[in-house]
Amino acid sequence: MREDSHRTRYHFQPLKHWMNDPNGLIQWQGEYHLFYQHNPGGALWGNMHWGHAVSKDLYHWEHLPLALAPTPGGCDAMGVFSGCAVDNNGEPVLMYTGIAPEVQCIANGDAAMRSFEKFAGNPVIAHPPEGMDVTGFRDPCVWREEDGWRCVIGSGIAREGGAALLYRSPDLREWEYLHPLLTGKEDKSGAMWECPSFFPLGGKHVLLVSALGTVLYFVGAYLDGRLAVEHAGRLDHGPAYYAAQTFQDAGGRRIAFAWLRESRSDAAQEAAGWSGVQSLPRVLTLGSDGVVLAEPARELEPLRKNGEHREGVLLKVGDELALDVVTGRQFELHARIEARERGRAGFVVCASPERAERTLVYYDCAAKELCIDTRGSSLSGEVATGLYRAPLGMCPGETVDLRVFVDGSVVEAFSGGRAWVTARTYPERENSVGVWAYAEEAEGRMKTLDAWPLTVS
Ligand code: FRU
Repeated sequence: MREDSHRTRYHFQPLKHWMNDPNGLIQWQGEYHLFYQHNPGGALWGNMHWGHAVSKDLYHWEHLPLALAPTPGGCDAMGVFSGCAVDNNGEPVLMYTGIAPEVQCIANGDAAMRSFEKFAGNPVIAHPPEGMDVTGFRDPCVWREEDGWRCVIGSGIAREGGAALLYRSPDLREWEYLHPLLTGKEDKSGAMWECPSFFPLGGKHVLLVSALGTVLYFVGAYLDGRLAVEHAGRLDHGPAYYAAQTFQDAGGRRIAFAWLRESRSDAAQEAAGWSGVQSLPRVLTLGSDGVVLAEPARELEPLRKNGEHREGVLLKVGDELALDVVTGRQFELHARIEARERGRAGFVVCASPERAERTLVYYDCAAKELCIDTRGSSLSGEVATGLYRAPLGMCPGETVDLRVFVDGSVVEAFSGGRAWVTARTYPERENSVGVWAYAEEAEGRMKTLDAWPLTVS
């Protein structure tokens, strides 16, 4: 059988079938655990289980048996939805949502975190707060405070907007509703907040929520169980990045994974036999301007093989500087581009020799945006494409640090920890593997240019 070149190698995927949200992220006894929303019976969403994988370095993953399945007749019979994992004095505990109706449940893991037993007293939260007309009630995020456990549940208040509802518990079993940690306005941040993730970062607190098809963040002061927002933004400006979840590892890093959605039809996903990829693990930090910054976890660096380094690259309009060191669809590119008054400079990737298929990743000097353009990326009629843009705001004379990761059908790009754009690309032709640096409209100057094939052995 021909290899499926749209599959990824250094981004996590199950061997087959559907995957969406990352769940239960935790580092346990030296291993990183990644659980995920999974349909073990097909390539489309449905019949939700928790899949499970472990890794020592965040890039090489070992597939493990399913962790959680719906219990017939139980409160999660219709599906085991998203949730988290916590360390309860040496015992791993998963908290997740059972559906129809939405309730919150827990399961205990064995010491090695290989098998899980649901709590006989489930659900531990049987309904939304009394008298509240909610648009949803799911995806618990749990953490410990000095006087016990806290949990936020993704929700929304009808006709008002998204809400993260705060609960308290002494033992993860008895939960008391307190009040919203934060609420939003429907016209600004959506009617329902999915997948909240709440954590301290750089002296502030951050709440991530998934709404309006993207991951929003709120940064501020956490006082008396409420988040006083000082800054808000988007973690990624592409169409793929959704349902981010974070955890803190033993080294103190705050690491986020997110579901990278497909941009192709259900029929194409079924024909492929799989759907959904996890993002690169991104280490989050807080910028001095309140922006949440992200860099790929550095364990990626050993995957680089025999790179190519150039300095002082001048690109005239129409120049195509081939980066032949990169041959397949697994690679990393890094250009330090001089920002100018106008013009676009960057990379063409996944290009067929006669340009019938190509994906562009570039900095647009006039618009001051980092862009991925997939409009010419595929000859398939089953693919949704677009021009995706993130504001970066670099002025003439400043240096744009453009980093690009391609892995099968995934393209992730960012600059200086910010302006992330993640998109999917599905070239039809096996020879759509060309990569070159280019400039359009005005001359482009790259102070340095690096390309590395990335291999996962
Ligand atoms: C987000 C989401 C969650 C839910 C899960 C179901 O993508 O809708 O709110 O728990 O997916 O698979």
